[in-house]
Amino acid sequence: MYNFDYHIPTKIFFGEGQIVKLPAEIKAVAGKVLLVYGGGSIKRNGIYDTLMPLLKEAGLEVFELSGVEPNPRVTTVARGAQMCKEHGIEAVLAVGGGSTIDCTKVIAAASFYDGDPWDLVIRKAPVTNALPVFTVLTASATGSEMNAGAVISNIETNDKLGLSHPAMLPRASVLDPTYTYTTNKHQTAAGTADIMSHTLENYFSKADDFYLLDGMAEAMLKTCIKYGPMALKEPENYEARANLMWTSSLAINGSVRWGKADAWSVHSMEHQLSAYYDITHGDGLAILTPAWMHHILSEATLDRFVKYGVNVWGIDPALDKWEIAERSILMTQDYFVNRLGIPATLREVGIGEEHLQIMAEKASTPALQKDVYVPLFPEDVLAIYKRCLG
Ligand code: NZQ
Ligand code: ZN
Repeated sequence: MYNFDYHIPTKIFFGEGQIVKLPAEIKAVAGKVLLVYGGGSIKRNGIYDTLMPLLKEAGLEVFELSGVEPNPRVTTVARGAQMCKEHGIEAVLAVGGGSTIDCTKVIAAASFYDGDPWDLVIRKAPVTNALPVFTVLTASATGSEMNAGAVISNIETNDKLGLSHPAMLPRASVLDPTYTYTTNKHQTAAGTADIMSHTLENYFSKADDFYLLDGMAEAMLKTCIKYGPMALKEPENYEARANLMWTSSLAINGSVRWGKADAWSVHSMEHQLSAYYDITHGDGLAILTPAWMHHILSEATLDRFVKYGVNVWGIDPALDKWEIAERSILMTQDYFVNRLGIPATLREVGIGEEHLQIMAEKASTPALQKDVYVPLFPEDVLAIYKRCLG
């Protein structure tokens, strides 16, 4: 296992009705707040109407930026940063899923930068500071509510890139499972696949001696396997929504990463799909994951797949090791496709052969070639993409 530093300063208010605690947290650091949200789901499901009076009662002056896109655009970040500068805004509040939260984090950082916010994303300029970030999570998926990362898209250049800075870590996040009741089947399924992918990216690691972390990751995967389909069937099942919500935060806040710390494989490949085709992140991950597993299964990785198959999928440990490994991959794919209802192939989400080569080259970053569980060069990524075409 690797050395690690542990520090998650995000205050979490988890459970029904906990939103009442948020305004005081914001008021402690700001008088003017920018409320950021997406395409309007928070108005349709009543979260907006609950929140606004609370913010006003706390004496906060509220500015609004709406229309954050799924796969948030840098142009929206620029609009938000401009508003912050113009109005002397002192804190930002994201109400939404990962896209809204990511956009808000980079708005917070770009408020301290005079140039194009894209410079921060491509590391042409460093993030130096950020306005205090607060979030109200409405979709269980990305874990952005409790980590320092953000992923931003530039449709002009077909780039979707991540950046991270401690100043972008939310100060406080409200996790009310009832707020996710209105996420539709597609979003619920894709979100569940995303949580599982975050967990799997850590589980398949060069550092395979951290027994505790493996057990935690296995529990998270089993939680998704159990509660994802339940949430699809009964959208207002509190137990299912609550389990998914807390797993979404834990899967990517470092809890199952520190001590492992390899770079991630499937996410790097997926971000190219979203960048070129604007597909839903969780769909891309669910399509790629079984193909990636097939590609990396070898004598060297066999024991890890056996552990995964036995502990997560309950496969009989007495079976031949290769059979367990192959079954574990089949069960993973069967779960995504038949229990979550996610498309099985790239063609089903509108992706053909046209950009595979360039996407493979862009996905195979130096990190993918050396810092991941099994290195992936452009030809490996291309083979994985082709296997997914269908
Ligand atoms: O825009 P609104 O109206 O809010 O509707 C959204 C959107 O259409 C809707 N939605 C969210 N909560 C809802 C709801 N609809 C009804 N009721 C609710 N309660 O769901 C749609 C998708 O929302 P989005 O925020 O895009 O989904 P998600 O949370 O999956 O976020 C995906 C983005 O996060 C990035 C992804 O790449 C993608 O850009 N990621 C961020 C990470 C991070 N910051 O750590 C890590 C992840 O791996 C991921 O890359
Ligand atoms: Zn993800």
